[in-house]
Amino acid sequence: MPETKEPYTIAWDAESECIVYIDQTLLPGRYEMMRCTTIDDLARAIRRLEIRGAPALGIAGAMGVALAAVRSTEEDLGRFLDDVRRAADHLRSTRPTAVNLAWGIDRVTRKVAMAASVAEAKAIAVAEANAVAKEDELTCRKLGGFGEDLFPDECTVLTHCNAGALACRCWGTALGVIRSAVAAGKNVRVFSCETRPLNQGSRLTCWELARDGIDVTLIPDSSAAYLMRKGKIDLVIVGADRITKDAVFNKIGTYMHAVAARHHKIPFYVAAPVSTFDLSRRETDIIVEERDRSELAYCGDRQLVPDDVKVLNYAFDATPLDLIDGIITEIGVLRPPYAESFRLVGKGEETRP
Ligand code: MRU
Repeated sequence: MPETKEPYTIAWDAESECIVYIDQTLLPGRYEMMRCTTIDDLARAIRRLEIRGAPALGIAGAMGVALAAVRSTEEDLGRFLDDVRRAADHLRSTRPTAVNLAWGIDRVTRKVAMAASVAEAKAIAVAEANAVAKEDELTCRKLGGFGEDLFPDECTVLTHCNAGALACRCWGTALGVIRSAVAAGKNVRVFSCETRPLNQGSRLTCWELARDGIDVTLIPDSSAAYLMRKGKIDLVIVGADRITKDAVFNKIGTYMHAVAARHHKIPFYVAAPVSTFDLSRRETDIIVEERDRSELAYCGDRQLVPDDVKVLNYAFDATPLDLIDGIITEIGVLRPPYAESFRLVGKGEETRP
């Protein structure tokens, strides 16, 4: 398997017992590793999208619980667990749509609650958070292997937002499939949508793919349908932030690509780990994060809209399952009818929203 060139997007530093991560708001201009030593640091980093992307948020949630555990000064187990739960609730509230955040938090919190002493709980928290991170890499590699079978030997694919190494521990989901296809010797060209308003496509996807020597071309989100009509796109592949029993949530703009792809009879695939599934809920149960007007109203320091104009800035949209030709996971490619194929996805205990 090809090695990852970069350090992990997010990792636990055992020596100083803190979280280290690549600050994604600085890319592509600056590549800097940052540290979170408190829960407030981590919550801020998640809200500001310094750490972002569903699987990376899952790892951040898991490591956040570990951070709360090792930093707690409580010696009484009950009070220690209260500390950990308070931190977990604080982190959970930072971003409501990507289910992986809550999934990572819950996975470690549940394990910690089984400890017989504070010392044991701290050790369990760190071990489980590291296990979440390690599994993410294996998951992405497996998923990449299943997904690359769907790619013709020569193809041009469209992707939206960043579902790459930066959105995971490494390798990526949608970009992991692209990396796996390239590693298998396929000739893959990528159109990366800029992904307005925060440009995770131009800033992160283009940066990642170009560094790996993968052929990538930046396009405005609004040109995707026209390129499909001109026969320039063979398939679409995106990541996901939450998959309910009836829809796939992903970065705003994904739904319009799915509609255009169906119109032009182009396959539309989603690549996501099982941890992104939330099959006890429907689309209408989910809170879609709305972000600050400044993300749309300004480009850097330049104002783009008059002060008195309203702004609606959803971070995500939902694509109904009937527009999706396959969901690539680490357990294989799920195909319609999803009511049947989703039975293969066992997620164990329910994750709190
Ligand atoms: O707001 P973001 O940057 O966290 O949104 C990320 C996305 O929408 C990604 O496509 C999704 O998390 C999949 S990442 C493997």
